[in-house]
Amino acid sequence: MHRTHTCGELRLDHAGTHVTLSGWVQRTRDLGGMTFVDLRDRYGLTQLAFNMDSNVELCTQARKLGREFVIKVEGAVRERESKNNRVPTGDIEIDVTSLEVLNAAKTPPFTIEDETDGGDDLRMQYRYLDLRRNPVQNNLFLRHRVGMETRKYLDSVGFIDVETPYLIKSTPEGARDFVVPSRMNPGQFYALPQSPQTFKQLLMVSGFDRYYQIVKCFRDEDLRADRQPEFTQIDCEMAFVEQEDILNTFEGMVRHLFKVVLDVEVEEFPRMDYDEAMRRYGSDKPDVRFDMEFVDFAPVAQGKGFGVFDSAEAVLGIVAPGCASYTRKQLDKLTDWVKRPQIGAKGLVYCKVNEDGTFKSSVDKFFSPEDQAAWASHSGANTGDLILMLSGDLDKVRKQLCELRLHMGAELGLRDPKVFKPLWVVDFPLLEWDEDTERYHAMHHPFTSPKPEQMDILESDPGAVKANAYDMVINGVEIGGGSIRIHDKDIQARMFDLLGFSPEEAQAQFGFLMDAFQYGAPPHGGLALGFDRLCSLFGGSDSIRDFIAFPKNNSGRDVMIDAPSPIHDEQYDELFLRSTAPDENTDA
Ligand code: AMO
Repeated sequence: MHRTHTCGELRLDHAGTHVTLSGWVQRTRDLGGMTFVDLRDRYGLTQLAFNMDSNVELCTQARKLGREFVIKVEGAVRERESKNNRVPTGDIEIDVTSLEVLNAAKTPPFTIEDETDGGDDLRMQYRYLDLRRNPVQNNLFLRHRVGMETRKYLDSVGFIDVETPYLIKSTPEGARDFVVPSRMNPGQFYALPQSPQTFKQLLMVSGFDRYYQIVKCFRDEDLRADRQPEFTQIDCEMAFVEQEDILNTFEGMVRHLFKVVLDVEVEEFPRMDYDEAMRRYGSDKPDVRFDMEFVDFAPVAQGKGFGVFDSAEAVLGIVAPGCASYTRKQLDKLTDWVKRPQIGAKGLVYCKVNEDGTFKSSVDKFFSPEDQAAWASHSGANTGDLILMLSGDLDKVRKQLCELRLHMGAELGLRDPKVFKPLWVVDFPLLEWDEDTERYHAMHHPFTSPKPEQMDILESDPGAVKANAYDMVINGVEIGGGSIRIHDKDIQARMFDLLGFSPEEAQAQFGFLMDAFQYGAPPHGGLALGFDRLCSLFGGSDSIRDFIAFPKNNSGRDVMIDAPSPIHDEQYDELFLRSTAPDENTDA
C-alpha cells in the first residue's frame, strides 16, 4: 500500500496512529541529531522526523534525499515539540520507521515553492513542475469547481450537454481559422471551430431547446493576456426565447457561481446600451468598479483660440480624484504614457483644481482661470482633483481616454480584484465598417438578428442598424457574448449579402444552415461565456494562462512540447501538401 493518509490530513487526533505516506520531498533540514523532511502532495505538507540516535541508517538515508524525490514512509504520528500554526498539519510529525525511495529526481530547474525563483519561460518549459506549485494547482482546482458547478446548474435548469465536431467548415467569429488537411480528400481542409455556433443553432432546429457544452474553440488571432489560440467556452443556446430570457438565465447562473464558488453575493446586473457605454467609458466593456466617467469638454473648451482643441472632433476628459497634488514629474510621466505607440495620443492636457481655489493647467496660455473654473464646474471636479483631457478624432480619443481611465483607476487602487461589478452591454451595432477592406463586418457574427423594427433600413442605412446582441462584462472584461439569431432563410440571405457574400458563396459556405431554416427553425438565441476568463476573474488574475493547465505563449507556441513544429516529408506527401512545403518553395 502506498499510503494510508494524504500529506494534508493528519492532526493531533491521529497521534499514536501508524501511517504510511507517499509524496514529494519539499525540503530536508539536517539539524545534526535530527533530520526533518517536508513531504508534499496535492493535499498538503507533513513533517517527517528522523532521529540519529534511534536509527542511524535511516537518518543517513533521509539526509541524502534530494528535492522532489518521490518517497514512501511509514511511522507513527506524534505531537510536535515546536508547532507550526501556518500549516494545517503543523501540530504533528511522523516518527519515521521506514523509508523507501520510489523515484529519485533531478534537481528541478526552479524551486517548487509558492514563490518560485523560476522565470515565465522556464516555468512554461517545465510546466509539469510548475503545476506542482500550490498557487498553480489551486487555480486548476478552482477551474474544476467552476466547471462542475456550471454543469450542475445548467443540468438543473434543463440544458443538455451535446458534443459538436472539431473537424468542421469555417465558422466565422472574426478571427482566422486553424485548418487541418484531409488525407482522404486531397487538397481539401477542415477548419477547427472558432465556436460551435452553427451546430448549436442546428441543434435548436432539431428541437433540443436548451443546449450547453464546455467546449474548446480555436482562433488564429493575435494573443494577449486574455486570449489564447485554443480556449474554452461555456457555450449555450435556447429556443423559443427572447433576449430577456437569455440575459436572466445566464445572469442567474453567474450569480449562482459567484455564490457557490466564492461565497460572494453579486448584485443584479445593470443593463447599459452600447452607445451609452461608449459615451461614458469609451469602451464596450467598461470597468464600472470606479467612476471617472468621460466628460465632453467641447462646449467649454472649444472656441477659445486653442487650435488643438478647436480643430478636434472631440475634446474628452476625466476627473482624477485627489490628483491635483501630482508633481511635474508625475504629469510628465503620464503624458509620456499616453504618447506611447500603444496608446497613441498626441499629448495630454491637464488642469489642477488646487486646494486654494486656483487652477494650474498645461494650457494656461490659452485659458483664463475663469475658463478653467468653467471646466471644473462643467465636470464636477472638486478642489484637489486633476482634470485630464485628450482631443482628436472621436473614436481614437475614446480609445485613448479609456486606456488612461483604466490606468488612473489602477494607479489609484480603484480596481480591486476582490470587488465584482458586472453589467450587460446591450444593443450592439449589427455591423462595423472595416477601413482596410472597405466593407461591413458583422460585429458579433453573421447569424445575429438585427432589431426587427429596423429591418426596413437594413440595406439603406446598414451602419445604423442595431442588433439583438449583448455582452456580459465584469470588471472591464468581456466574459461572454451572444445574440438572438436570425431564424429566417431570407433574412439570413440578406445579411450575407450585406457582408459582401455573393449568393453562390453564401450557399457554398452556409447553405446547410439556410437549408435547415426551411425545415421549421424555432426562434432561438444564446451566448457563450469565456470559461478561462471567468476562472481567472474568480481567481483574481488578469492572465487566463494561469488557469489553463498547458497554455501557449504569446507566439502561440507550447514551449514544453515544442509545438508547432515541422512535419516529416512523408506527411507532406500523404496530405498532398507537397507544393506548399517550405523546402519545395525554396527549391523553386
Ligand atoms: P464570442 O466570439 O464573443 O462569441 O466569444 C465568447 C466569449 O469567449 C471568450 N473568448 C476568448 N477567450 C480566450 N481566448 C480567446 N481567444 C477568446 N475569444 C473569445 C470571451 C468571449 O466573450 N459563438 C459566439 C457566442 C454566441 O453568439 O452564442 C461567440 O463565440 O470571453
